[in-house]
Amino acid sequence: MSGSRSRAKRIGFASDHAGLRLKAALMEHAAGRGLETVDYGAYCEDKVDYNGFAERASRAVVSGEADAAVLICGTGLGMSITANKIRGVRCAAVGDPYTARMAKSHNNANALALGGRVLGVGLAKMIMDEWLDAPFEERHQARLDQIAELEARERRS
Ligand code: RB5
Repeated sequence: MSGSRSRAKRIGFASDHAGLRLKAALMEHAAGRGLETVDYGAYCEDKVDYNGFAERASRAVVSGEADAAVLICGTGLGMSITANKIRGVRCAAVGDPYTARMAKSHNNANALALGGRVLGVGLAKMIMDEWLDAPFEERHQARLDQIAELEARERRS
């Protein structure tokens, strides 16, 4: 065995006020699984816009500071729409474990958006676990390359 050990996966978490409580529960669950967690805000229940928090966590994924991100607002929609504006982010707004698994195995989603006003904690944990544990199936890579090419074309237009 070489001297260097691979570090634990680092998951960035972000929420607005509507996702704050679910975020806390999921961060605890992720830490219990041995994952490193980073909280990109929000940090209190005051009403806030989700956009800046989604952007911070998404940029952390693109820069490599985080391996993946979990983004939580009331529905998961504002977070996912914002995250998907950041080049290189593939964010899936998910409400069930099957879609969570597919989001990784077919779409290699590097961000997961959840609805804090939609999901119970138990279901949300199950969804996050499915997404974290599923392997990406390489046969889908060509489609992801096409998404990246579309992003590049959009930047030029
Ligand atoms: C906040 O009221 C709510 O709009 C937000 O959390 C999110 O659901 C937006 O998509």
